[in-house]
Amino acid sequence: MSNESLANLLKEERRFPPPADLATHANVTAAAYEQAAADRLGFWAEQARRLSWATPPTQTLDWSNAPFAKWFADGRLNVAYNCVDRHVENGLGDRVAIHFEGEPGDTRTITYAELQREVSKTANALTELGVRAGDRVAIYLPMVPEAVIAMLACARLGAPHSVVFGGFSADALATRIEDADAQVVITADGGYRRGKPSALKPAVDEAIERVDRVRHVLVVRRTGQEVAWNDSRDVWWHDIVERQSDQHTPEAFDAEHPLFILYTSGTTGKPKGILHTTGGYLTQVSYTHHAVFDLKPETDVFWCTADVGWVTGHSYIAYGPLSNGATQVLYEGTPDTPHQGRWWEIVQKYGVTILYTAPTAIRACMKWGDDIPAKFDLSSLRVLGSVGEPINPEAWMWYRKHIGADATPIVDTWWQTETGAMMLSPLPGVTETKPGSAQMPLPGIAATVVDDDANEVPDGAGGYLVLTEPWPSMLRTIWGDDQRYLDTYWSRFEGKYFAGDGAKKDDDGDIWLLGRVDDVMLVSGHNISTTEVESALVSHPKVAEAAVVGATDPQTTQAICAFVILRGGADESEGLVEELRAHVAKHLGPIAKPKRILPVAELPKTRSGKIMRRLLRDIAENRDLGDVTTLTDSSVMDLIQAKLPSAA
Ligand code: WT7
Repeated sequence: MSNESLANLLKEERRFPPPADLATHANVTAAAYEQAAADRLGFWAEQARRLSWATPPTQTLDWSNAPFAKWFADGRLNVAYNCVDRHVENGLGDRVAIHFEGEPGDTRTITYAELQREVSKTANALTELGVRAGDRVAIYLPMVPEAVIAMLACARLGAPHSVVFGGFSADALATRIEDADAQVVITADGGYRRGKPSALKPAVDEAIERVDRVRHVLVVRRTGQEVAWNDSRDVWWHDIVERQSDQHTPEAFDAEHPLFILYTSGTTGKPKGILHTTGGYLTQVSYTHHAVFDLKPETDVFWCTADVGWVTGHSYIAYGPLSNGATQVLYEGTPDTPHQGRWWEIVQKYGVTILYTAPTAIRACMKWGDDIPAKFDLSSLRVLGSVGEPINPEAWMWYRKHIGADATPIVDTWWQTETGAMMLSPLPGVTETKPGSAQMPLPGIAATVVDDDANEVPDGAGGYLVLTEPWPSMLRTIWGDDQRYLDTYWSRFEGKYFAGDGAKKDDDGDIWLLGRVDDVMLVSGHNISTTEVESALVSHPKVAEAAVVGATDPQTTQAICAFVILRGGADESEGLVEELRAHVAKHLGPIAKPKRILPVAELPKTRSGKIMRRLLRDIAENRDLGDVTTLTDSSVMDLIQAKLPSAA
């Protein structure tokens, strides 16, 4: 990335020191950085001791067959025991593990003692269905407690799960069942979405028809809708699970025993089955959840709004919070059902103290208006988290001001399905935060920014984010494809993990994520990050959300083309486009001024909330649209195309 252009970009001067009270009582202080810097492996060995091991490990890292890592290899443990039983044994059986809130408003409160009984019964039921250690189980469920119970039951049996997001099609499900060779599928009749029951079982039936290997389908009754039934294969959860004993003795597994496979689509090729294992994964999700959210399990109420179908739900709904004995909210539905204040109503109702969500959701709330969260009591909140994409500084500021009472620290956590747990983030009791920056590697993590030749860039310069040392929760391989693991992550820079993200270091050496490297534009010889132009647009009071792409241009190689969603109330008046172009030029310099700006009603997003810039590039370059099957709502593209002539 050319440095002179970067120097102009995004001069963010705002700074927010940690609240004094939080800093005084913080779980983790600045000493953790020093300790980890002095002895990285010793630091992780100590974090591993936060868990209960049947056989404590004497080894920490075995990197002799790099980049295939083994962590804590001679240790043995059971993940479900760590997430459930040990809390009950420690006298915390009456603590609420899960406050479930269904979209229609039904609720369920599950204590750790109840969770232990439910997980035990489910493990017994899976055993009756023939599931043994090492067998893969596919989970295709809505956001109901059974999703977490099913994951824990699999972990308890040492049967790796493969959770498939409930919004995915039969096709996507079939591919994943086949690749993981899962013989049991756990699903539901349906779940509630936007006020209506939405069926799941038909997609399972269709997927199974295509991949002839599934012996049993375990079906949760959630909505009560009609389902087709195959007596020799399908079994109701309430029939088989309810009649099991609620006693089950967990067996310890090797630290490197597979815990789960989670598929990540990426931009090209077939989905990659990211493999995570037991001891290192649990160590890092547990430590980061404790450190980055400053979790006090006796008093905090944690809420991660992700779906369990994504890695965020695996690490910060299922395994991180439960391993720490947290009380958490699990919400089934969408943020705007039945009204746009539903999330804030939930925060108020349960007294949520720590909220973890994604920039896309924050921007949606900005668009709906400040008055909506203002109607609720959000004073319980004390730490806010963000994950999934770079958070634009203005969205960060809005989150802090309107959700965090202008006082709450925000932790912008950078990580990936592949990294398993958080890697870069401020610490809420230590770091002076900067809006829009994930800032620095967590204690025990080694990351930096390098140029094309793998040389570390100086402060103030940009390049590629790399991880320079192995970490406990790293992916171990791509399921069934070691070569692809090597090619994808370890071949671009010798000996370093290539994350695929562009990043820059500011003058203090703090790291700013700039989006996927495929999203960097080349304009008249300058590399310009889509993220920075988007952030400049979102910093304009009339813009709620922006997506920027580089479209092929005969004069400038690429021309910047922006799609913007206006804030509630803002008009698409005459001079607005000119005003926005001037605004970007003022913030980032004339080189970053978009050639075209198109106000639109919606942006194309993947089901995990990431903007699909590839499709916008198709539009900007007047091409037929590529594959739209992973879009949340493909009608969005028709709406955008309908607006085109006015912008050309
Ligand atoms: C990609 C990984 C990690 C759980 C959810 C996404 C982007 C993620 C941030 C952040 C800037 C971020 C990166 C990364 N990303 N968090 N805080 N700041 N970018 O998991 O689907 O595997 O996506 O999400 O581009 O590579 P994922």
